[in-house]
Amino acid sequence: MSQGTPHVEDVLGTIDRGLWRRIASHGRPYSSSAIAMVIGGVLIAVVESMLPLVTGWLVDAVVDQSSPTRMTWLGILYVSLCVGFCVLVWWFIVAAGRLATGLAHDLRQASFKRLQQLEFEYFDLQPAGWLVSRLTSDCRKVASLMPWFLLDLCWGITFLILVATAMLLIDYELALYVMTIVPILVVVTFYFQGKLLRSSRLMRKTNSELTAVYNEGIMGVRTTKSLTREQENLSEFQVVSDTMHRHSMTNAIQTSIFLPIVTSVGSIGVGIALWAGGLQIADGEGLSIGMLVAFMQYAVLFAMPVQELAARLSDLKGAQAAAERIQGLLDRVPAIRDSDEVLDRMREMQGVTSDELAIDGGDADINTIEFKDVSFWYKQGEPVLLNLDLAIRPKETIALVGPTGVGKTTIASLLCRFYEPCEGGIYINDVEYRKRSLHWLQSNLGIVLQHPHLFSGTVAQNIAYGMPGISKDRIIQAATQVEAHGFIEQMPQGYESEVGEGGGRLSIGQRQLIALARAVLADPQVFVMDEATSSVDTETEHHIQQGIEAALADRIAVVIAHRLSTVRSADRILVVESGQIVEQGSHAALLEAGGAYRELYRRHFAGSS
Ligand SMILES: Nc1ncnc2c1ncn2[C@@H]1O[C@H](COP(=O)(O)OP(=O)(O)OP(=O)(O)O)[C@@H](O)[C@H]1O
Ligand SMILES: [Mg+2]
Repeated sequence: MSQGTPHVEDVLGTIDRGLWRRIASHGRPYSSSAIAMVIGGVLIAVVESMLPLVTGWLVDAVVDQSSPTRMTWLGILYVSLCVGFCVLVWWFIVAAGRLATGLAHDLRQASFKRLQQLEFEYFDLQPAGWLVSRLTSDCRKVASLMPWFLLDLCWGITFLILVATAMLLIDYELALYVMTIVPILVVVTFYFQGKLLRSSRLMRKTNSELTAVYNEGIMGVRTTKSLTREQENLSEFQVVSDTMHRHSMTNAIQTSIFLPIVTSVGSIGVGIALWAGGLQIADGEGLSIGMLVAFMQYAVLFAMPVQELAARLSDLKGAQAAAERIQGLLDRVPAIRDSDEVLDRMREMQGVTSDELAIDGGDADINTIEFKDVSFWYKQGEPVLLNLDLAIRPKETIALVGPTGVGKTTIASLLCRFYEPCEGGIYINDVEYRKRSLHWLQSNLGIVLQHPHLFSGTVAQNIAYGMPGISKDRIIQAATQVEAHGFIEQMPQGYESEVGEGGGRLSIGQRQLIALARAVLADPQVFVMDEATSSVDTETEHHIQQGIEAALADRIAVVIAHRLSTVRSADRILVVESGQIVEQGSHAALLEAGGAYRELYRRHFAGSS
């Protein structure tokens, strides 16, 4: 499938029936709509294929000067068929709408659910824009295609059989003449559909490049202006825009050639019918005029299902990459998840309430955390952590320090089980954490990330994120503890002020304070703070120090910081270098030792202390 190779639009293959069967199986809850559509499709074909015959009878009735009663009845029959046709069209549009919207809804829901379960590594590999397209355009494309394919398949095949039968019954010799156009029609249609498919794919591909350029242009407008790169950006845009123009023109020209050719081929069939049938009538043998009219109408209609089926098959090919990507996402098994053993234990624990036991039957309290011989790499062969040992004692606050890119955030991510060790293990109260529930662990961690994310909504909603129903007083209390109350109060709507998408209306330091308030409010067993106050000014940081210390007391805390004020109060400072802990101890002891910490202190901390 398409995992790991996001841009596979240009692969043109045959139709993968297994894949489509699996996509179709998502429509099972809407099988009644699908059955209604199949019946609708067949009935429409029956009604539509009767119209030329009735027209023929009517013409004969007029030519023969038959009784007015017969003409009236034929007229009534014709009108009834037309009304029936309209009702059936209404019926299948409703059924198709139900199937398409239901399928799109279910595919969207299932893909979003799966996305939420997937590990960080997956998001490291897939660009965000690519994932958003999966959830929006791919789901829509695949879901809207299915009903029309189903309908055209049932209608097209039935219609083709009925029209061919009618022509053969009216005059089999004439019918065989007309049918000689079928192979030509099939070849022309498939040839052009292939070409159109290719050019429309190129258009789509260029369009996504165009979107990416727009996106970069909008997101990076500040950097562009500050570096006066407008002209270069415009030239880059011009190239993509020109490519788009070229592919669009190719597609338009192909369409303009295809349609007249197909229509002409169809007309040849009608011409043959008119010529040969006309000769027969002139000779006074064979067809009546009415039946010639009917036959000619059938000859016109004959090309229709062939074209429709070819178009739907090519749509199916066009949407195959989208279907593959959605199914690939749905099939993706989350790499970090509860083992069967843990799930069994969680089932057994259902309904049991205990202060000492967690939802998975293990200890509810986190007393110690230990990294034993942990090695980790994002990319095979490039280890970030190598045989790391680290034991955190009950209620201890440890600080991780070290140069940039040395693996401090990685240690925190492993502790939070965003990633799992490649070798070795992490033990909570002496139990390897993969034997514990993921939900239990993460709901007991208060994590403040290096780049905190705020959601669109108010300040209060962001502080109380994940804790619905919590009182305003407690929100204010948490904000006050981390010195966020002051600036929030100064905002026009106070706690009800909107933070904007991603917290864009706040400064980075303000976002960090809100994320900190969120973590303090959650009152977790373990705090993990990764550069939680790196963008807060030194004075504010000095002020919040007391509040943070109060929050960290009596629980395990892992703090990563470049600033001395945050680090100094930790129970133990650990210096990380080359994927290992090279030094540890209190601030004073480490300075005294005159090793890596002292050097780091001299270079990084001295200025900020
Ligand atoms: N998602 C990722 N995929 C691949 N490599 C990564 C990823 N995240 C980090 N790395 C690499 O792993 C190494 C350690 O990164 P990490 O973020 O843990 O460093 P850090 O000590 O937190 O640095 P800083 O002080 O700058 O925050 C770096 O070399 C980085 O390039
Ligand atoms: Mg980091």
